[in-house]
Parts: sequence; C-alpha cells; structure tokens
Amino acid sequence: MVQSDGEEPIIANVRDQSAEEAYLAQIRRLTLDAARALEEERARISRELHDELGQTLTAINLNLAWLTSRSTGWDVKTQERLTEAKQFVNQLLDSVRSLSTSLRPPILDNRDLREAVRSYAAEFSRRSGIACRAVAVPTDLEVHDPVATTLFRIFQEAMTNVARHSLAAKCGIFLRSVGPEIELKVRDSGVGAVPKRLEGVQSLGIAGMRERAASMGGTLVVQNRPEGGVCVTARLPWRQAEKRNNP
Ligand SMILES: Nc1ncnc2c1ncn2[C@@H]1O[C@H](COP(=O)(O)OP(=O)(O)OP(=O)(O)O)[C@@H](O)[C@H]1O
Ligand SMILES: [Mg+2]
Repeated sequence: MVQSDGEEPIIANVRDQSAEEAYLAQIRRLTLDAARALEEERARISRELHDELGQTLTAINLNLAWLTSRSTGWDVKTQERLTEAKQFVNQLLDSVRSLSTSLRPPILDNRDLREAVRSYAAEFSRRSGIACRAVAVPTDLEVHDPVATTLFRIFQEAMTNVARHSLAAKCGIFLRSVGPEIELKVRDSGVGAVPKRLEGVQSLGIAGMRERAASMGGTLVVQNRPEGGVCVTARLPWRQAEKRNNP
C-alpha cells in the first residue's frame, strides 16, 4: 500500500516484518522436525540392522563353526565351500556393523555425555587450534536420552559458532547439575557478537538450539560476556526426563 505522498505507511512495514518472522519461524520448526524425524529413523534402522541381521548372521556363523568341527574326513571341495561360507558371513557381519555404526549419532553411541563432550572438545581443539577445557560436575554425572542427544546437538552448534565467528584463543565447556536441571555452558574468549545477531532471527543455528532446548522444556540463553566473547547457556530439566525414559 502506497500513500498519496509516495511514502510507505509504517503499519504495512510492521505487518510485513512480523509475517516474515512468523514464516521464518515456521520454516525453522519444520526443518527441526524433519531433522529429528530423520535422526529417529536412522537410529531405528541402525538398531534393526544390529539386532536382527547381526544376531542372525552370528547364529549362522555358530552353525558353520559347528559343521567345521565335524568336517574332518569330508572331501576337500566340501571343506573349501564351508570355509568360503564362513568368510562370506564374516564379511557381511563387518558390513552390517559399519553400516549400523554410520547410521547412529556417531559420538554419543555407547558413551556418556561427558565422555562424548570431552572427546569432541579434544578433536575440536586439534582442528581449530582453540584451546578447550571441559569440566563436568559432579564427575559421575549421568545423562540419558533424549536429554543427552539434545544437549550434545546444542553443544555441537555452540562449538561450530565458536569456530566460525569468535576468533577466540580459548573456550570453556561446563556441564553441571543445578537442582532439577542440567546446565551446559560454552564460553569463548573471542570478539563477541553484534547483540542483534544473537537473537538468531535470521539464521538457523541459535534458533535451532533454542528450539531444541524448548522441546525438552528447557531454556537457552546466548549472551556477550562482560569480559569479551560469547556465552551459551542451556538448561534442561533432566531428572524428570530420565525417569520418563528409564522407568
Ligand atoms: N561465539 C560467537 N562469537 C561471535 N559471534 C557469534 C558467536 N555465535 C554466534 N555469533 C553471531 O551470531 C550469529 C547467529 O548465529 P547462528 O548460529 O544463528 O547463525 P550462523 O552461525 O551465522 O549460521 P548457521 O545458521 O549456519 O548456524 C552469527 O552469524 C554470528 O554473527
Ligand atoms: Mg551457527
């Protein structure tokens, strides 16, 4: 709508802007839903492969071993076929294992969150040259899914932002339990950000972290630190989530 003097009325701009923001928020929600569905589906296929195929192949292997133990005196050709069958089954077992591993969220599999965070931070330091210190309190902190995966994904995005935007020399990662919540902090010593950019309206990273935290009933705050650099704080209720998932 254009007024007779040629100026755009302010009200139209406000409406356009909020419609655009709502549209962006909707796209972010859909993207996150799709990513979550994909992750669940990959984990399901990975379990099926591991449990169904893996266990059946192991059973076939045991039968073949049983046959081998009784094969003395069999003709050479039959023994060769038996050996070949065992090799095929072992090759298949290897493929199933590596396929099923490649489908899982890699770093969290069979490891607790603290270990996963520590080893990610070590690899991150090696690649980026940013010195990282990871501290978990208490030391036997046990976090289970879905809280663990949610926190780990938030952690990965926060670290990616440190590498991409901070120009920091150091980064601290703190994982601790605070009453009924678990808190993750990623603090860098870098240049900090233009405050408006930390609202995460235009990009997926911060908005995605915030939505992941909210999906677990938690909160996420991204702030410039008075000493310089950025601090990301995620807080998720976790004892309740743990009980829901591990009755
Ligand atoms: N640790 C940081 N140090 C400095 N600036 C940061 C930091 N983290 C985020 N920012 C600023 O906040 C902005 C928004 O971050 P966000 O993760 O949402 O988007 P992005 O990293 O630019 O893109 P993507 O959608 O791929 O994540 C960044 O573009 C950057 O300007
Ligand atoms: Mg980002």
